[in-house]
Amino acid sequence: MRVGVPREIKPDEYRVGLTPTAVREYVTKGHEVVVEMGAGDGAGYSDALYKRAGAKVMPTAEDVFAEAEMIVKVKEPQPIEWARLTDKHILFTYLHLAPDPDQANGLLKSGCAGIAYETVTDDAGGLPLLAPMSEVAGRIAVFSAGETLLKHNGGMGLLISGVPGVPPARVCILGGGVVGANAAVMAAGLGAEVVIVERSIPRMRHIDDIFAGRVITRYSTIDAVEEEILKADVVIGAVLTAGAAAPKLVRREHLSKMKPGSVLVDVSIDQGGCFETSKPTTHNHPTYTVDGVVHYCVANMPGAAPRTSSEALVHATLPFGLQLADKGLEALTKNRHLAKGLNVLKGQVTHPAVAEALGKPFVDPYGAWA
Ligand SMILES: NC(=O)c1ccc[n+]([C@@H]2O[C@H](COP(=O)([O-])OP(=O)(O)OC[C@H]3O[C@@H](n4cnc5c(N)ncnc54)[C@H](O)[C@@H]3O)[C@@H](O)[C@H]2O)c1
Repeated sequence: MRVGVPREIKPDEYRVGLTPTAVREYVTKGHEVVVEMGAGDGAGYSDALYKRAGAKVMPTAEDVFAEAEMIVKVKEPQPIEWARLTDKHILFTYLHLAPDPDQANGLLKSGCAGIAYETVTDDAGGLPLLAPMSEVAGRIAVFSAGETLLKHNGGMGLLISGVPGVPPARVCILGGGVVGANAAVMAAGLGAEVVIVERSIPRMRHIDDIFAGRVITRYSTIDAVEEEILKADVVIGAVLTAGAAAPKLVRREHLSKMKPGSVLVDVSIDQGGCFETSKPTTHNHPTYTVDGVVHYCVANMPGAAPRTSSEALVHATLPFGLQLADKGLEALTKNRHLAKGLNVLKGQVTHPAVAEALGKPFVDPYGAWA
């Protein structure tokens, strides 16, 4: 199959759909890869590296879309890209169609087969193509918090690790899923005192096992959240209720009771945020202060580390991408988890939750939902 990798055009997006290492895997299996000139620049992969891996580098995105049968991207396609897609294309990328009817209509009109990373599943009931970005975000959350705690960044002037004789910061993590556990790895690694507030008992057992007592777990109740945020120097919001807006665990009235100069990092901001006072920010202007508490609510935290994020994403997408390249849409008949990634096909919505959110009929061409 001919696989195309256009340069990402969403503002502030520097990740790339395939790294040169991934290109080599496709090429070795007999596929052709066409990459738009400069597609990897933001993540540190030159055109020369892609050529060395066996890709053909083409000058424009139009060339790539015209040549390729499958387009591998990172972010949802932008309006100019909807127009380049046709019913010959498989589109493999993050889509997030449910809250985005304009994009959904653009893709439906194109007739393409849109496979969304975020709805591909695994045997454990997880979302394997979302997890790598949660790992990156959880880890970034802690050193962003550490930076923000410093005086010149608006924080209380605390070094997150402490020094001998001076205690470290207390970091409270709300939600101990992928983001929360990765934040805990970093915070504990820096020497912080860490407590994870979680509502899943099996998850708390798992965290207790892996951290061997280094991290405190606490069952999530209103009382527990209130007690922990008042003791914390840093609160990291990492809760997720699948398919729903994040619950508002920290309310405006809590802020004036928290330590002045403490830091809230709301990783759940992409689901609306779990602090009532959260609003999305960018890497250029990441923080703002409400009632003396500094808020960090960057909606695309992995975007700060495009090199690491591209590599981690490709490791997760590569096995699925290769199946699609080998077998085309036939791969969906063999792999139910991949079939659950299909959101649109030939002008129809093929994912039940997306169809419901958009108020459109749902069709199940590969029996993935039967
Ligand atoms: N801002 C970013 O750049 C960025 C990047 C990656 C992920 N995220 C977001 O981070 C959030 C967490 O993602 P994840 O992959 O860790 O999800 P996850 O499903 O692995 O973990 C969520 C955890 O929250 C727990 N939870 C739910 N409600 C709770 C409550 N009331 N109290 C305590 N715990 C509760 C769940 O039991 C679960 O363990 C998501 O909203 C995700 O979209 C944001």
